[in-house]
Amino acid sequence: MQHASRVVTSNQPGPHTDLARRVQRALDHPLQKPVAEHSQNAFDAARAWLDKTRAPLILDAGCGVGLSTRRLAERFPDHAVIGVDRSESRLSREHGALADNVHLARADLVDFWRLAQAAGWAPTRHYILYPNPYPKAAHLKMRWHGHPVFPTALSLGGRLEVRSNWRVYIEEFAQAVKLATGVTALVEAHPPGSEYLTPFEAKYAQSGQPLWRLVCETLPRGESV
Ligand SMILES: C[S@@+](CC[C@H](N)C(=O)[O-])C[C@H]1O[C@@H](n2cnc3c(N)ncnc32)[C@H](O)[C@@H]1O
Repeated sequence: MQHASRVVTSNQPGPHTDLARRVQRALDHPLQKPVAEHSQNAFDAARAWLDKTRAPLILDAGCGVGLSTRRLAERFPDHAVIGVDRSESRLSREHGALADNVHLARADLVDFWRLAQAAGWAPTRHYILYPNPYPKAAHLKMRWHGHPVFPTALSLGGRLEVRSNWRVYIEEFAQAVKLATGVTALVEAHPPGSEYLTPFEAKYAQSGQPLWRLVCETLPRGESV
């Protein structure tokens, strides 16, 4: 098949039994790791850009090549859309000129989210699209909802949307949101039709894989799910 892409396989039959403990640990012990210089520089540049736009913010966390960032900017022309990814090679791939309301930042999200929180950023929309699943049970702490930075990412608020081709990832994420904030997230199948938001979405959908998403409003920001 032209677009064949493997389904996620895992030694986990369902949500991880250690999830609640990981989330509580993240809540009890905020991350102390120093911010990397390149992340600080990328954040400072993003902040200077955002201040100039004076538009409400949308964050595209783990944006890869930035296609979704561009598409979100088209869909929400009155917003400033910032895509963040740690991969220089992905971000530097040619995908056309950037519109005035798009900014791409090469930074580690573990740093960028903390800097955004410290700066009081409040995105109206926050996307985490097809994050690395780390499907081995032993790698729970590498998934965003098992990571110590998880409460920081949620604390930014707004409408949060997470998409994955691994249902367990979405179910776990929803459980973690509930544990950390009390908010119940909507979990649903999300066949994208032909309107792919990201290259990974296109690859998985064209391989016939079912896709899943979670949507929640982590803090009331005036926009409904
Ligand atoms: C599976 S790809 C998905 C990319 C894109 N969202 C898509 O759907 O096409 C996951 C992306 O997350 C990025 N990523 C993973 N961990 C990251 C981190 N700590 N900070 C920033 N980006 C990260 C990777 O570089 C990669 O581009």
